[in-house]
Formats: sequence, C-alpha cells, structure tokens
Amino acid sequence: MNYFEYRNGQLFAEDVPVKDLVHEYGTPLYVYSAKTFRRHFKAFDSAFEGIDHLICYSVKANSNLSILELLKNEGAGADIVSGGELFRVLRAGMDPRKIVYSGVGKSAGEIREALYANILMFNVESVQELERISAQAKNLGMIANISLRINPDVDPKTHPYVATGLKKSKFGIAMSEALQTYLHARELPGVNPVGIDCHIGSQLTTIEPFLESIERIKTLYGQLQENTISIKYLDLGGGLGITYDEEEPPHPREFGLALKKALEGYDLTLILEPGRVIAGNAGILVTQVEYIKKAETKNFVIIDAGMNDLIRPCLYGSYHRIAEVEPKGREKMTVDVVGPICESGDFLAKDRDLPQVEQGELLAVYSAGAYGFVMSSQYNSRSRAAEVLVDGGTVRLVRKREQYQNLIALEENYLTNAKE
Ligand code: LLP
Repeated sequence: MNYFEYRNGQLFAEDVPVKDLVHEYGTPLYVYSAKTFRRHFKAFDSAFEGIDHLICYSVKANSNLSILELLKNEGAGADIVSGGELFRVLRAGMDPRKIVYSGVGKSAGEIREALYANILMFNVESVQELERISAQAKNLGMIANISLRINPDVDPKTHPYVATGLKKSKFGIAMSEALQTYLHARELPGVNPVGIDCHIGSQLTTIEPFLESIERIKTLYGQLQENTISIKYLDLGGGLGITYDEEEPPHPREFGLALKKALEGYDLTLILEPGRVIAGNAGILVTQVEYIKKAETKNFVIIDAGMNDLIRPCLYGSYHRIAEVEPKGREKMTVDVVGPICESGDFLAKDRDLPQVEQGELLAVYSAGAYGFVMSSQYNSRSRAAEVLVDGGTVRLVRKREQYQNLIALEENYLTNAKE
C-alpha cells in the first residue's frame, strides 16, 4: 500500500500532483512519500508486537538524511555497513544503542568509529574480524558486544547477486565453524558474544527460507547454552520482498506471526533489518521523455533518466513498472525504455508495452525508493538527481540536484593550471 495514486487523470504523490513537483524541481526526480514510509515502518514494527524486538532499518536501501530522520522519529534503529552510514545515522540523530553494524570488510578505522559511538552490536563475519574488533576495543579499554553472522546455507530463491546465505557466499561464518568461533570469542579480551545474526538474502517472496534458517540457528543456540554462552539477541537480517510486478510476498503481519511462532519459548530480543520492504514502494523516479525513436526492429523511448540514476534493471534485470504521469488512454506499443548513457546496458525496461507516449511527457518509474538513488552515480558526468519528500500537501527538497560544479569540485584544485 502506498500513496502514489491517480486523481482526476494525473498522478499524485500524496496530495501533490507529480507534475507540480517537476515544474519546481525538474527531472530526473526521486519523489518519496513520507506517509508511505511511516505506514510501512509501522506495519513491520507492529507485526512483532508482543515480543521484545528492535527494527533496525537497513540504511543501504535509502540513506537520505531526511528519510533516516523520519524513521528515527518512528522509533527505528539502523543496520549499517560502513563508517559513512554510521556518520549519516548519527547525523540524523539516531540512538547509537539502536545501531547494529554488519558487513564483511570493516576496516580498523570504521571499527573504532563504531566503538566511539557506542553502538549496540557488531555483526561479525569472520574470525579475523572478530580478532580485530577485540584488539581495537581492548586498546580503547572497551568491550564490544558482538553477534556472529552465521551462514546457514539456506537457498533464499532470489537473484544470485542478492543471495547471501549460501555456502558459496562471501558472507558470514559457516554453521560448522560457529560453535568454535563463539568459544574463541569468549576467550578474547575485547568482545562479548551476546547475539546470533543471520541474513540470507534480499527480495525473498516466501517465508520458508527464514524459517529454515531459524531451525538451524536453534540448534546452535542450544549448543551455546550447553557451553554457558548466553545469547540475548537474535538478528534475522532483512530480506522480505516487495511487489515490483506480480510478486506476492507475504505481508509483514504474516511474516511476523510465522517468526513469532517459530521463536515461541525463546527468551530473546529479536532484531530485524528491513530495507526494501520499508523504502521500495515509498519512492518513484520521475523522468521526462526526450525522444521517441522508431528503429527498424525496435521502438525506443529515450528518457532523461539512465542507468546512472537507477541501475537495477541493468544490473539485475529487475522489473520496474513504468507509467504515464498523465494517462491519456492511448494505444499501446512495445518499446525499450532507455536512458542517455553511452552503453547498451542503459535501459530501464525492455520490450515493454507502454501507451504511445510522446516527446516531452512525464513517466513515473515505480518501486524506486530502495536501492535507487543510493546506487546512482555520476557516470557520463551526469549530475545526480534531486530528491523530494512529500508529506500530505507539504513538499521538502531533501537533496538538491547536483550541479556541474559538484562534478569537478574534488578535482579542479589539482589541475596544472589551478590557481594557487
Ligand atoms: N541486512 C543485511 C546484512 C543486508 O546485507 C541487507 C541487504 C539488508 C539487511 C536489507 O535487505 P532488504 O530488506 O532490503 O532486502 N541492491 C540490491 C539489494 C542488495 C541488498 C544487500 N543487502 C537490489 O537493488 O535489489
């Protein structure tokens, strides 16, 4: 459920016509709905009512400061994967005791930053990382709370690039090595094992892989109890999918019920790290048609947003619904919707049936709130898009459109003819 809908023949973001937003801010433009963000967060959070839980929004999905602030105000914590994300969430005012830190390659500097910030917990992905965290914490006279990210070897049945819980994946510690790694952690001076963590993949459309992981984790939990290692947190990561096209992922309520049932009788605080399910359908990318090109074997709709703005179709072959901002009931034609970048991989849709749109008109690319702007780049020296956040009838620019000056700001001082 989201708040992008047609009223009187044109697309609205909440109470604001998208056309008006474009008039003010131009295209390509990321438009977010505050009400949708809040609704998605509440739906997810309330699905775990009745048990101790903490929802750590996965910042990588959409890390705009104003989005982080909005979610913080709803009570969200954060799942971060870099020093940069830590910097952002602290700047947005997030409570450090609600921050968990995941990721396979934490540098010593990033670890120190997180220790200084006094975050809730590190999700540790290898023995060497465990030892590094211990050494860094010891140096600072601290003890870091840690979880081990376990790789349960469960198939999430999703795109291979976003499947993370299989044996062949770079993520986590193999189940067969988990117990000995916990025993090792217990002996290290700078870490305190308090949790078990697991994230098996993204855009999952069934609950079974989550339940399978829980069953495997329960076995480990039992072994840890036998060894008097007391676990307080179970972090099950993110991964719940959304509808881009015709997927029918479980509703968060259903997801929550299933997890609660699976964990009945376990005295644990459940942590979840949802990203896409909160942000994905809370944002659209609005773009303008530059040209229509009818080639011999194909029709192209050339738009002003490219793979540098939204890389998902090109990188994963992902589907994003594309629709007119002002539908006019025209006949359909089969087209490739392509951007201005000099690469054949620069498309937002292939062989798509679209109404016969015209030069100059606006299109909305749906489900662009997660892994949209955050994965954008300046490739082809294109300034990154602006982002606006609509809340009812109120519009806030939350990221200015980049200017040419932003493209060169970090380089121009190094020109041989740079002014002293
Ligand atoms: N926790 C961890 C440790 C993760 O690695 C991820 C996502 C999440 C939570 C959030 O997962 P979500 O709830 O959003 O599924 N760029 C890709 C998605 C990459 C996901 C990476 N990890 C895409 O555009 O589909």
